[in-house]
Amino acid sequence: MIDYQNILHTIFKSIGSETDRGTVARYIPELANIDVHKFGIQLVDNEKRSFSDGDSDEVFSIQSISKVLSLAMALSLVGEDLWKRVDVEPSGDPFNHLSLLEKENGIPRNPLINAGAIVIADILVSQLENPKQDFLKFIRNIANDQSIDFDPKVAKSEKETGFRNFAAANLLKSYGNLRNDVDFVLDFYFHQCSIQMSCAQLAKTFFLFSNRGKCIRNQAYLDINRVKRINALMLTCGFYDEAGEFAFEVGLPGKSGVGGGIVALLPNKFCVATWSPGLNKKGNSKLGMQALEKLTSYTSQSIF
Ligand code: DON
Repeated sequence: MIDYQNILHTIFKSIGSETDRGTVARYIPELANIDVHKFGIQLVDNEKRSFSDGDSDEVFSIQSISKVLSLAMALSLVGEDLWKRVDVEPSGDPFNHLSLLEKENGIPRNPLINAGAIVIADILVSQLENPKQDFLKFIRNIANDQSIDFDPKVAKSEKETGFRNFAAANLLKSYGNLRNDVDFVLDFYFHQCSIQMSCAQLAKTFFLFSNRGKCIRNQAYLDINRVKRINALMLTCGFYDEAGEFAFEVGLPGKSGVGGGIVALLPNKFCVATWSPGLNKKGNSKLGMQALEKLTSYTSQSIF
């Protein structure tokens, strides 16, 4: 059996000595004050054993990682009709770019870029009675953890500076691909991005994507074929214009957020979450990517 604890500790030590830790996201002012020296890692294997090191129990803003969870919820509510409004191709563009959206008549390239996630948010606010609370409940139940919550300060901070997301939502509206009010949809979107979780909570939540759709309590949330599709999207689109690099270096489906978190998983084996707030130029956690490259190289485990 692989000694995950020992491997995580080796990774933790080597990451600790890195001096170039990337840059904390500043375009959401509330995120700018996070200590760049934080680092956490947590792995849950498919026997539900947990291994961790560093700041793995400290919560941070999961940001775009939430897009996978909103997609999973929307798919379970409206099914495959969802794909009429969002495509499944990598964009090769940064997460907040708008040029393709205009060229492609308001159909976002995929649900993991901002424009795509805003369409998913539109679907959720149409379907749910109390959208924010119902989404939170969905995540709390998957994670088996009622303490997971929004960070209202982060949501407010992003609303005040989210000019590109307002532009994306307005563009979607002009193409008829947003059914609800721009402000209403974005209020949901900013809240979903503000959810705070630790690496431990993230690894437990994303366990279902490595466990054929069954959550940590063994309850089935997603059909295996939908898990296949979501994992495929994480692999091809989870890191925006760095998805190729992540597949090349790490070789796992995964998703990043500008709070510095990354989750990744090896189907039927494990789910892993890292947190290091410093980002590289493409907006992905610099040391999180390095840590995961070491994990799959040291263990010789990847989807390839
Ligand atoms: O909409 C935004 O810009 C942020 N709430 C989320 C961006 C994000 O996390 C991109 N990920 N790497």
